[in-house]
Amino acid sequence: MITGASSGLGEAAARMLSEQGATVVLGARRAERIEALADELRAKGGKALAITTDVTNAAQVQKLVDETVNQFGKIDVIINNAGLMPQSPLERLRIDEWDQMIDVNIKGVLYGIAAALPYMKAQKSGQIINVSSVAGHKVRAGGAVYSATKHAVRVISEGLRQEVKPYNLRTTIISPGAVESELPNSVSEKDVAENIQQFYKDHAIPADSFARTVIFAMSQPENVDINEILFRPTTQEL
Ligand SMILES: NC(=O)c1ccc[n+]([C@@H]2O[C@H](COP(=O)([O-])OP(=O)(O)OC[C@H]3O[C@@H](n4cnc5c(N)ncnc54)[C@H](OP(=O)(O)O)[C@@H]3O)[C@@H](O)[C@H]2O)c1
Repeated sequence: MITGASSGLGEAAARMLSEQGATVVLGARRAERIEALADELRAKGGKALAITTDVTNAAQVQKLVDETVNQFGKIDVIINNAGLMPQSPLERLRIDEWDQMIDVNIKGVLYGIAAALPYMKAQKSGQIINVSSVAGHKVRAGGAVYSATKHAVRVISEGLRQEVKPYNLRTTIISPGAVESELPNSVSEKDVAENIQQFYKDHAIPADSFARTVIFAMSQPENVDINEILFRPTTQEL
C-alpha cells in the first residue's frame, strides 16, 4: 500500500513493485491519476487497486488500509510516501504552508502507522516504510519547516522500530536526495521555486532510483531489517 502514488516516487515504486509481482494499493487525492495507473498495471497482468485518499484525514487513511485488508486479506507493506515541499524562508511567514507540511509530511505518516499497526501486530509480520529525505539529515536556510518534518519522520520511525520488536515488524526510512518528480511544483514562492527547479534540472535522478531502494528493503529475508537508506544523485553536494 503506497500513499502519494499519483506521481513521482510513489508512482515509480508502484510500477516497479507491480512489474515484480506485488499486489499494489494506490492512495492519493487525484483519483483520475491513481485509477489510470491501476488500470494500466492491471492491463499488464498486475493486481492493483486505487483508493482516493487525503492523508491529512485519519479516517480516510484508515479506510485505505481497511480496504486493502478486506480485498487482499492482509497488508504486507505500507509505504508512507505522500509529501510536499513548499520551502520558503521563515520570515515570509507562510504559516498556511507550515501547517500543510506538518499535516501531510508528519501527521499523514502517523495516520498511516496508526491504520496499519493493529493489522501488522495481529499478523506478526509487516513492514512500515516511511519516506524522509536528505532534508531529514541536513537543514538549509529556506528549508527549516520541510527539514523539520523530515527529521520528524526519521525520529518517529526510529521510535517505532524499537517499539515493534515484539511483533516481528520491520521499519525502513528511505531518505532520497534530488529525484525527478512533481515535488518542486509544490514551492509557491517564485524566487525559491526558480532556484529549486534549476537545482533539480542540474542534478535530479530518475524516480526508478527510489523504486529500487524500496524493492531492496522489501526483498530481504524476514530476519533482516533495513532501517534506513540514504541516497543522492552522485553530483549532489549537500
Ligand atoms: N523528489 C525528491 O527529490 C524527494 C527527495 C526527498 C524526499 N522526497 C519525498 O518523497 C515523497 C514523494 O514525493 P515526490 O518527490 O514523488 O513528489 P510528487 O511527485 O509531488 O508526489 C507527491 C505525492 O504526494 C501526494 N500527496 C500530497 N498531498 C497529499 C495528501 N494530502 N493526501 C494524499 N496524498 C498527498 C500527491 O498526490 P495527490 O496530489 O494526488 O494527493 C503525490 O502523489 C515526499 O514525501 C517527498 O517529501 C522527495
